[in-house]
Amino acid sequence: MKNIIVLISGSGSNLQAIIDACQSGAIEGSIRAVFSNVPQAYGLTRARQAGIETEVVEPKNFADRTAYDLALAERIDGYQPDLIVLAGYMRILSPAFVSRYRSKLLNIHPSLLPKYPGLHTHTQALANGDSEHGTTVHFVTEELDGGPVILQARVPLATGDTEASVIGKVQVQEHRIYPLVIRWFVEGRLAMRDAKAWMDGVELPAQGYCEKESD
Ligand code: GAR
Repeated sequence: MKNIIVLISGSGSNLQAIIDACQSGAIEGSIRAVFSNVPQAYGLTRARQAGIETEVVEPKNFADRTAYDLALAERIDGYQPDLIVLAGYMRILSPAFVSRYRSKLLNIHPSLLPKYPGLHTHTQALANGDSEHGTTVHFVTEELDGGPVILQARVPLATGDTEASVIGKVQVQEHRIYPLVIRWFVEGRLAMRDAKAWMDGVELPAQGYCEKESD
């Protein structure tokens, strides 16, 4: 069983999808702990309801990002993590944190990267009149939302869509693809080498894995 640590800041709907996949056996891994920088994050309640250890590390107790991330990493290391999953974790990571967990740090971002890194992706897609939007799972590197892409899912945008409706469509896809990618990682099929994502020993293209009907 691989040890998985999940970092959240909010509702934790992606965390829930990962919990469900672990419980059903779709992911042969164990979520050893869920960490949050926000004490009120609803995802902490989800974790507790599933019997998973929770820890809150509050930024206000630390002088700067480096000190915060070091304390966080020391807590995380107590669980001997094989994989660290960012699931709506809304803090920028220090370079030291990224390098400490290089190749075992995953993130999900609500856009078709490299389009719309950063915040307010749904609003930007609507404001620009895009015909589609989506979500991306990627390995984390020092570049914000810039690590190698593993898998993307697209959603069509239609007249009448609002930020809320787009978030809803995107999250349906997130709950499908994030557990799948975690499964691949836990099975040893997925790796990051030379700043590229590799699946079954093959380097993935810039847009990540292309799903086939059978997957
Ligand atoms: C998700 O949609 C995720 O893509 C986004 O936050 C949401 C968290 O939802 N992440 C980012 O914006 C990271 N830059 P959740 O708490 O319900 O899983």
